[in-house]
Amino acid sequence: MELINHRPSKSGGSDTTAPQGAEAAEMDAAPVSDGDKKRVFIKTYGCQMNVYDSERMRDLLGPLGYAPSDTPEGSDLVILNTCHIREKAAEKVYSELGRLRPLKEAKEAEGSSMTITVAGCVAQAEGAEIKRRAPVVDLVVGPQTYHKLPELIAEVHRGTGQSLDTEFEVEDKFDVLATPERQIDGYSAFVTVQEGCDKFCTFCVVPYTRGAEWSRPVDQIVAEVRALAAKGIREITLLGQNVNAYHGDAPSGDEASGTWGLGRLVRHLALIGGIDRIRFTTSHPRDMDEELIQTFADEPKLMPYFHLPVQAGSDRILKSMNRKHTAEEYIAIIDRLREVRPDIAISGDMIVGFPGESDEDFEATMELVRRVNYASCFSFKYSRRPGTPGAAMAGQVDEKVSSERLARLQALLAEQQEAFNQSMIGKTLPVLFEREGRNEGQLNGRSPYLQAVHCDAPLELIGQIVNVEITGASKNALAGRLVPEETRAA
Ligand code: SAH
Ligand code: SF4
Ligand code: F3S
Repeated sequence: MELINHRPSKSGGSDTTAPQGAEAAEMDAAPVSDGDKKRVFIKTYGCQMNVYDSERMRDLLGPLGYAPSDTPEGSDLVILNTCHIREKAAEKVYSELGRLRPLKEAKEAEGSSMTITVAGCVAQAEGAEIKRRAPVVDLVVGPQTYHKLPELIAEVHRGTGQSLDTEFEVEDKFDVLATPERQIDGYSAFVTVQEGCDKFCTFCVVPYTRGAEWSRPVDQIVAEVRALAAKGIREITLLGQNVNAYHGDAPSGDEASGTWGLGRLVRHLALIGGIDRIRFTTSHPRDMDEELIQTFADEPKLMPYFHLPVQAGSDRILKSMNRKHTAEEYIAIIDRLREVRPDIAISGDMIVGFPGESDEDFEATMELVRRVNYASCFSFKYSRRPGTPGAAMAGQVDEKVSSERLARLQALLAEQQEAFNQSMIGKTLPVLFEREGRNEGQLNGRSPYLQAVHCDAPLELIGQIVNVEITGASKNALAGRLVPEETRAA
């Protein structure tokens, strides 16, 4: 068994991500001493792409002397990396800004300052409106321009220049991000490979907040993954709003191929030493191709877990959502995946209460869920988003009806998830241990199916993939015991 040092993963003050570990360097090209070290608090909302973006902001700011902080109190820079997907997500930002105001005033009373930045999808969607509604905000930066944060912050400090940048410059962004070294946290890392969406589902803001579909070139992704592997990362999750629409420029030496699809990219990344597990999210049924399906069959490093949102089970609603696929087409993809990889865990996203959804339409969703039998599935009540076609549609569903439907759907999904977890009892699964567990002597990790697993195990197994016999299961986690060392996986 290979032993590597236990690198504890810190949990931050943010919803989903943990800013940490920046090095002191310089700000505005002026050297800073330890005493001048500034603190940045980054709070992340929304999807994994935002988690990745927050990490990259932390990487950009580290060399400028910003050390990550777990709390906004006393921070010199606060970044809210926001999500616009549902009304509640967007509104959270304004309540957080309200909480930040007295903290900023306290900093100013001390003769210092707190620069408040709104980044992410609310920044993109609302732009200058944010500063009007919340004057406490100094800077608004969109998801495709955060690579310019160092210069934008310097401009705010000088009291010059613009304090709003929400252009779409995705190519430029990744060129800039290629240089700052990634600081890592744990043994699993996100790597954005694709951004944006051209699908325009009628309920969704993403095409407006993230812009058109764009794929990073293979060479750039390989360089990032190699660097992560060199730092001890063992699992990567490739991210994209439509990750299976990936079509990045082929690597140097293979220009004749033009662009590569996701299946080919996954197989290529699997050759990188040290990377033992690959996952990707989120896919769209319309972008499924046979090569990707085959990759699940014959690339052992691609984990048998697949997130494929469908949103609804009624063809009438799917059409009105502009999903451009039917329920049967979705089921056919799932059947084909199970044919090539029988143990694959299927996950999805569902929306209830989309305009015009009748009881019968909702029953079609329940029926689809029964047929798919999900290992896990996210489900949401439709949220009317200004500017999307859905917001103007007739037949908006009563809140009470939506709530009842959501409760029924979630009960069914919970049953399926628990049954899936229960089916693991007695099996031996390779678990990547990531951190200490809640109880003394316990470690937490993930199964190939992305289930949380806890198990009594020594600290030095953190960062290792170890065989665990599953002895218990609940809706949200598995419990297990280490199998004797001589039978453990490498
Ligand atoms: N690109 C992915 C995910 C987009 S957002 C995809 O195509 O599936 C993540 C999920 O949020 C969606 O899958 C959808 O289920 C949900 N969602 C998006 N807009 C929503 C809205 N207006 N109301 C409720 N849920 C929404
Ligand atoms: Fe939104 Fe649809 Fe694009 Fe997914 S595919 S990001 S749900 S518009
Ligand atoms: Fe939210 Fe933007 Fe992601 S709207 S879900 S943070 S792409």
